Amino acid sequence: MPIFYDAATRSFRLDAGNSSYVMRVDPHGFLLHLYYGAKISDSDLGYLALPFNTSSFCPNPPGDPFGNFSLDNQPLEYPAYGTGDFRTAAVAIRGRNGCISTALHYRSCEIRPGKYSLPGLPAVYTNSDDEAETLEIVLEDDLTGAEVHLLYGVFANTNVITRAVVIKNTGTAAFSIEKAASAALDFPTMDYDLIHLYGQWAQERRISRESLSHDIRVVSSLRGSSSHNHNPFAALVAHSADEDHGEAYGFSLIYSGNFAIETECDSLDSTRLVMGINATDFSWNLDPGESFATPEAVLVYSQDGIGEMSRTFHKLYRYNLCRGEWKEKKRPILVNNWEATYFAFDDDKLVAIAKDAAELGIEMLVMDDGWFGKRNDDHSSLGDWFVNEQKLKGGLKSLVDRVNALGVQFGIWFEPEMISADSDLIRSHPDWCLCAPGREMSIARTQYVLDMSRADVRDYLFDTISGILSQANIVYVKWDFNRNLTEAGSALLPASQQQEVFHRYVLGLCELLDRLTSAFPHVLFEGCSGGGGRFDPAMLYYSPQIWTSDDTDAIERCRIQYGTSMVYPASAISAHVSACPNHQTGRSTSFETRGNVAMAGAFGYELDLTKLTDEERALVRKQVAQYHAYYDTIQNGDLYRLVSPFENENFCAWEYVSADRKEALVTFVVPRCRVNFTSFVRMKGLDPNMRYQDVETGRIYFGNTLMNAGLNLTAHWKDGDSHIYCFRAVEN
Ligand code: GLA
Repeated sequence: MPIFYDAATRSFRLDAGNSSYVMRVDPHGFLLHLYYGAKISDSDLGYLALPFNTSSFCPNPPGDPFGNFSLDNQPLEYPAYGTGDFRTAAVAIRGRNGCISTALHYRSCEIRPGKYSLPGLPAVYTNSDDEAETLEIVLEDDLTGAEVHLLYGVFANTNVITRAVVIKNTGTAAFSIEKAASAALDFPTMDYDLIHLYGQWAQERRISRESLSHDIRVVSSLRGSSSHNHNPFAALVAHSADEDHGEAYGFSLIYSGNFAIETECDSLDSTRLVMGINATDFSWNLDPGESFATPEAVLVYSQDGIGEMSRTFHKLYRYNLCRGEWKEKKRPILVNNWEATYFAFDDDKLVAIAKDAAELGIEMLVMDDGWFGKRNDDHSSLGDWFVNEQKLKGGLKSLVDRVNALGVQFGIWFEPEMISADSDLIRSHPDWCLCAPGREMSIARTQYVLDMSRADVRDYLFDTISGILSQANIVYVKWDFNRNLTEAGSALLPASQQQEVFHRYVLGLCELLDRLTSAFPHVLFEGCSGGGGRFDPAMLYYSPQIWTSDDTDAIERCRIQYGTSMVYPASAISAHVSACPNHQTGRSTSFETRGNVAMAGAFGYELDLTKLTDEERALVRKQVAQYHAYYDTIQNGDLYRLVSPFENENFCAWEYVSADRKEALVTFVVPRCRVNFTSFVRMKGLDPNMRYQDVETGRIYFGNTLMNAGLNLTAHWKDGDSHIYCFRAVEN
């Protein structure tokens, strides 16, 4: 089993796959973090604790006035604020005395089979109990009565450890939690690069990689959601690490709200990483007897480069985070009418698109924004989730029946958390908006945000959305979220608890999503937030695919999808072929390239099928056939990133290898051509001794030839060209 506890030395060793993670209770009762990395066989690593106290400016804990021990220079498992460790803290509790000083001493531990879950919060789960074990370590702050339960989910066969923390008030007075990270990690060196994913609307998840230095860095969001700007992910990798070699530690937070991943390198050249709910504008009142659970942090270790780290995340999130009927079910090819019609559609227009979809082999029509209230532009009606029968004459059921009669399934768009300034809902419930009393509300896209911390708001949304979904045969919901939270206060909470609102919002959202996905288990939910502004593991728990970006330009998508693949599997990355010139960039790329790039995700179309030329219709048929032929390799295979669009301006390439290594697909894209450029690409992940046939040319190569000598893809490429090369194993 993966968790070892040595009672004599009070040491813990967690062996997750080929990695080990070691802690020890030191003689003063503090829990030290001593090692995380490649698998080792010793459990007692007490010798790694630092033997000195640097100066009088590093205080000794009470009871050890002349000792060498200072919390300020020890590697700590869950560092507390205000009692001698001046580095970035994981936890800070304000007691009844008004002071924020927290001291956590070890009390007990428990090891049990299976993985813990977190009530009300999304978390990784096991498909069978023998996949993982749970370690629960209890630390205690005597003064406040705060019991801090550190939870570890240790996977036996993959390099994954999950962490979360539950804080219980076992005292007699209320206290407030000012900070409660999900995980903290101390590393003895700072020889790492920090990788994280940043961006903005229509340019999500660009890859940033920089060496750590003696400072504090924060990758974070205060937007109320994970955001376009920073993904709740960071990696620490060796300076020399690349896709295939070197150590990489990946950290992903299963949270769709304000988060922070802080890294601090101190004067001892060690590194601390702390991740969890953003402590800015956060404070949580905990009465005696109450508990507070943090979101879950996922830790992935790779000794074989950044690519292996990503593949570990992909498998975990595909099979141990996504849930429900659609987790592994083949996703339908859909056509979404947003870029086809925007708000200008009616039932006949949608049926016309569905008719072409049926002829072309497209399996689902998604009716996007504009079907409800009196919404003919983005100025009104969010919250009024009632069908606009002037647009959909005969009502929703009639439309869905007509689409279904063509053999096409039907999906629908909602933006549940929002309320338009011009809506019946705001006129009847002005107090349902998030607001800071006395301050005028900021407005974005003429909409405000509903107070998801309120049960009455959630009940209204559950009832209205259920009402729509029950009216007709609807099998897909696109759940959008098109602005960030401001003036985040709730009309129902006292002044002393307003700093709970950001987190209560997320809890409310999770509760509503849980209710709806349970009530409608057949419905495929797709997450969305102005494109990929909420592309995070928490949303994946409820919606196994997420609209990746509002930028549908194939060349831009190469970067967006490449960055997204750092953490998220192809099955999650919703990607559509759209019309040209592209609506976001004005660029024109070939229909083939738009298909080849979209093929790397949950595939679909986002254009007016009725306007396609015969030639384009033939290409749609070809792409639909390709999607089916390649489905298993792309959706269930392993991704190898070959040439990064962030590092090579002329071409980029990625590869999927089927689980049995018998099929490999290389997608090659030329974003920007130049004269006489050469393009050699080494394939990865093949069986070196197997022979593979290039399906198009018939030429046969050994796997080791393709991986070492590589492919020569030099040709007279033009801007925006692309190709998918398919290799299949042949009998030796
Ligand atoms: C967001 C989404 C788009 C579309 C519009 C509708 O921007 O990302 O795909 O649904 O909203 O208003």
